[in-house]
Amino acid sequence: MATFEWKSSSVEETQTFAENLGQRLTPGDVLTLEGDLGAGKTTFTKGLGKGLGVKRTINSPTFTIIKEYQGRVPFYHMDVYRLEDSDEDLGFDEYFNGEGVTVVEWAQFIQEFLPKDRLEITIRYLDDVTRILTLKATSEHFKEVCKEIIE
Ligand SMILES: Nc1ncnc2c1ncn2[C@@H]1O[C@H](COP(=O)(O)OP(=O)(O)O)[C@@H](O)[C@H]1O
Ligand SMILES: [Mg+2]
Repeated sequence: MATFEWKSSSVEETQTFAENLGQRLTPGDVLTLEGDLGAGKTTFTKGLGKGLGVKRTINSPTFTIIKEYQGRVPFYHMDVYRLEDSDEDLGFDEYFNGEGVTVVEWAQFIQEFLPKDRLEITIRYLDDVTRILTLKATSEHFKEVCKEIIE
C-alpha cells in the first residue's frame, strides 16, 4: 500500500486535481471518498467526472444513493451516507466489477462490500479554502496513477 498527500488551496485546485486523476482511470476502477460533511467529496467528484468525459452536471446523489453518468466509460457516483446503520447490499458488486468507474462518498458505511483494490481518498478540512487530501493506493495501478498526478 502506498500513501500520498496533497494540499488543495481552492475549489478549482481540487477539481483540476480530480480531473487529472479522472483522465487516468480505467474500467473497473473504484475510488472511495471519506471526510466530514462539506469536506469536498462532491466537489472532487465533479472534477473526476470531467476527467472521465462526463458532460452532464454532477450533483450530490444523496436521495438516490447511486447516479449513473456516461463519459468515455460509465461513471457511477454513489453517496451511501443513508446506509450508515444498515448492512444492506444494494448489488454493489455489479458496479465494482463492471466496465465503469465508481466513486463512493462515505465509503466507510459500506466497508464490508468494498473491493480489495481501490483508491482510498480522505479529505480533511483545514480552513475555509484549504483541504488536505490523503490518497491510499492498494494496487500497483493506483500507485502509478497517484505518482503521475502528484510527483
Ligand atoms: N479547496 C477546496 N476543495 C474543495 N472544496 C472546497 C475547497 N475550499 C472550499 N470548498 C468548499 O467546500 C464545500 C465542499 O462541499 P461538498 O463538495 O458538497 O462536500 P461533501 O460532499 O464532502 O459534503 C463547497 O462549498 C466548496 O465550495
Ligand atoms: Mg457530498
